[in-house]
Amino acid sequence: MADLRHLDLRGEAAAPPGPAAPLGMSEDAWIEVIHRMDEIYADLVRYQVDLEEKNAALEEAQRFIDSVLSSMSDVLVVANVQGRIQRANKAMVNLLGRSEAELVGTELSALFALSAAPMIANFPDHIRTGGILDCEIEILAANGEAVPLAVNCSPRYDNEGTLSGMVVTGRPLGELRRAYRDLQETHKQLKTAQQHLVQSEKMASLGRLVAGVAHELNNPISFVFGNMHTLQRYGERLQDYLDLVQRGAPPDLLEQARKSNRIDRILKDLGPLIAGSLEGAERVSDIVQNLRHFATPQHQKCSTFDLCRLVESSLAWVSKAVRQQAQIRLDMPAELPVHNSEGHVQQILINLIQNAFDAMNGMDQPRLDLRVSATDGHARVQVRDHGSGISEDNLLRVFDPFFTTKAVGKGTGLGLYISYGLAAEQCAGALSVRNHPDGGAEFTLEIPMEAPHG
Ligand SMILES: Nc1ncnc2c1ncn2[C@@H]1O[C@H](COP(=O)(O)OP(=O)(O)OP(=O)(O)O)[C@@H](O)[C@H]1O
Ligand SMILES: [Mg+2]
Repeated sequence: MADLRHLDLRGEAAAPPGPAAPLGMSEDAWIEVIHRMDEIYADLVRYQVDLEEKNAALEEAQRFIDSVLSSMSDVLVVANVQGRIQRANKAMVNLLGRSEAELVGTELSALFALSAAPMIANFPDHIRTGGILDCEIEILAANGEAVPLAVNCSPRYDNEGTLSGMVVTGRPLGELRRAYRDLQETHKQLKTAQQHLVQSEKMASLGRLVAGVAHELNNPISFVFGNMHTLQRYGERLQDYLDLVQRGAPPDLLEQARKSNRIDRILKDLGPLIAGSLEGAERVSDIVQNLRHFATPQHQKCSTFDLCRLVESSLAWVSKAVRQQAQIRLDMPAELPVHNSEGHVQQILINLIQNAFDAMNGMDQPRLDLRVSATDGHARVQVRDHGSGISEDNLLRVFDPFFTTKAVGKGTGLGLYISYGLAAEQCAGALSVRNHPDGGAEFTLEIPMEAPHG
């Protein structure tokens, strides 16, 4: 466009009219015309500047939209209400291997695989009632391959709010699928690594278990050994004395032999020595029995027993073994007959009570609350100690095999694992744990009062 500012309109218009104005115009009239032309010229210049500014803004907006569209990795196509393409972004052009100019004006449905054509043809109808979200459609790529896309389609309105077309965006699923495959591969590797870790943890746990069992067996066995050596010595002395008796030795010799061989002392010691040895042997047998239970929990026949008495006797058993006594609060009915596996229930209760005493070891005033109750055909025993409770992390792990916070040789970490299994599988019940709101851990054993497997 010619630059109006350089046209010398006034020069032409103001060309000397000649000695007299041809149409009899006065000088004033000419000046008036020149003024008007001046104004028109100023207006024209203003419009020109406005136009150029608007044009620059429009070009800037256009560049901005282009740069946004071409930086998108998702494909984007704009179509009119008839489904004819008006614009396509760079990702779409690259995927299809056709220029935007080629695409403009073609049918949107022609871009997609044949199977998807009817669906695309329905897009204009669909968008009148709302958008289309995440439907999987295959598009024909430049190399002829059908590339799956997750497609969204939304309506486009003009500035009067009338539907003017639609905007279709699509994300190639190949990339997502590849990412998913990578994720799966990483997950597999992670699982293998985890299995190795579990395996080595199992071996370490087995080591701890063996160390624990060895430690547990060592005490009663050394006790029995010690007693047996003493009994052997006692036996020799008794033999000497009995020989004298058999040979009919005189009373004073017998008396002397009785004293020198300390026969009276031997006779006094004999009872406790044998009782102690038996106890040691029983302890060994118990440990072996427990290990067998651990390896293959035996199914026991159910019997009817009083749960309250069983709680009391379990408490008595543990109390006998622990050094520090505790203040016990029992909250239970006079009796609660239950038909279930008595031996297993007792084993669970002993484990829970033993753990409770362990948790309060060294406390000034250890307190243990035992509560027995029944609702809806289920009996419940709650064992709550007043120790420091269990940390949130450990709450999830206390039932894991070999989980223990006790020193090596003190705990195998099997007590709760076995109890949990026994409660669920042998007693048809459940064992759970929580930290009591007023402090300490609380374990709850719930069993049916009439076991289903009778
Ligand atoms: N009443 C409790 N208060 C706090 N922590 C507890 C309590 N009961 C169990 N725990 C935690 O749970 C862990 C596992 O208990 P579990 O009875 O299975 O094994 P253990 O007592 O360590 O060994 P054992 O096999 O000899 O019973 C314990 O080491 C302890 O950390
Ligand atoms: Mg235990």
